[in-house]
Amino acid sequence: MTQPTERAERARTREFFAARAADWDERFPDDGPRYAAAIAELGLRPGQFVLDAGCGTGRALPYLRAAVGADGVVLGLDLTPEMLRQATAHRAEAELVNGDVGRLPLRDGGLDAVFGAGLISHLPEPSANLCELARVTRPGGLLALFHPIGRAALAARHGREITPDDLRAEPNLRPLLASTGWRLTTYTDTDDHYLALATRLG
Ligand SMILES: C[S@@+](CC[C@H](N)C(=O)[O-])C[C@H]1O[C@@H](n2cnc3c(N)ncnc32)[C@H](O)[C@@H]1O
Repeated sequence: MTQPTERAERARTREFFAARAADWDERFPDDGPRYAAAIAELGLRPGQFVLDAGCGTGRALPYLRAAVGADGVVLGLDLTPEMLRQATAHRAEAELVNGDVGRLPLRDGGLDAVFGAGLISHLPEPSANLCELARVTRPGGLLALFHPIGRAALAARHGREITPDDLRAEPNLRPLLASTGWRLTTYTDTDDHYLALATRLG
């Protein structure tokens, strides 16, 4: 059951992104090629079913659609209605759902891949949420945790330094993934992108 503190945290997340939805894409106009390159690394095939978890304004959706083709399924899901409203510009490329990665309206094992850009650090219950993503992904399916800027560069943009307890740091992420049904296979954290790829354990 969702606890009051988690509900409050989700409400804060929605409020934070609702205020930024209108000009989200204008703030980061040059990120497209980084999304394209990251999605190419997933090796998606035509006809596959991919979830963009926390799709926001839908920046990844055109690249995900191109990867799975007209016979594939692209589902964009986001907690913040205002972000999702901006994503309707990509309605031709994806189904859009207002929802929470903690409670996905999807059957067990149906997904081939999950793409989550800028998502993991906003999750109130990362462990439970990664378990939920594992539940809906088939054994051998993929999870891509991406950011179009590396951790150190992102922290610097916000006037901070990265700390050892950062969930996205490899020594923290690897055991977190292992305990939630995933095996970390590739980890990249450079100035121009962050990409952790994991495989759904059988
Ligand atoms: C940093 S933004 C990234 C948006 C988009 N993926 C991109 O790359 O531009 C994080 C997004 O995750 C969404 N989000 C945060 N927590 C979520 C949750 N529990 N379930 C679904 N979406 C969530 C937010 O509403 C926001 O749109």
